[in-house]
Amino acid sequence: MFYPFELEKYLEELLPPREELLLEMESEALRETIPVVTPAVGHFLQLLLETAGARSILEIGTATGYSTVYLARGARHTGGKVLTIDMNKGRMAKAVEYIARAGLADLVEFREGNALKLLPEISGKFDFIFVDAAKGEYRQYLEAILPLVADKGILVLDNVLFRGWVVPGAVYDAKYNKMVETLRAFLQYLAELPGYKLSVLPFGDGLAIARKI
Ligand SMILES: C[S@@+](CC[C@H](N)C(=O)[O-])C[C@H]1O[C@@H](n2cnc3c(N)ncnc32)[C@H](O)[C@@H]1O
Repeated sequence: MFYPFELEKYLEELLPPREELLLEMESEALRETIPVVTPAVGHFLQLLLETAGARSILEIGTATGYSTVYLARGARHTGGKVLTIDMNKGRMAKAVEYIARAGLADLVEFREGNALKLLPEISGKFDFIFVDAAKGEYRQYLEAILPLVADKGILVLDNVLFRGWVVPGAVYDAKYNKMVETLRAFLQYLAELPGYKLSVLPFGDGLAIARKI
């Protein structure tokens, strides 16, 4: 957990207890300021993936593999696999270790590099794509991802409400103006994207869920 909002704390209390490994990953993320998803978001990702029966899963932004654990657990349930991408070598090395310790190594393929370079080289279709990398690049990721979305596929994008500052009327430091404007424009674009239905959920750091129809 990176942003200790009251809502997140309460949602966390409603979750089943998490095992040592996840708690260890959370502490490390907090200590090293790695912005991993909140436990409630991780739990939701797994639930959504399982409900959709998604089998081919793509993640952009592995970091140390915290969200990957939830995705891979979902994949174990559906009989699927996860392909996860990150450009940070050190974090990815940790993710490989954690995923092995979680007993999920056979379900996850790691690819190190810039997603903007790697995505056009990927073939095949994905039932579930989770984007949690550089907020300023979301429009570019989306363009690279759209050809990879399977029929009825689900896209989940994290951090779209950026600490709630994307909501009109929010008060924040002017240095974030550009990012807030970029995210607002991105959400508007996503809301009007032909062939997709969008919902934005106001927990975690804001999750956009788009389904190909
Ligand atoms: C917010 S962290 C991911 C957290 C992770 N999803 C979790 O919840 O456990 C964002 C990650 O995206 C990676 N990243 C940022 N831009 C990227 C890019 N263009 N290509 C690949 N990885 C990128 C960073 O290295 C960082 O580790």
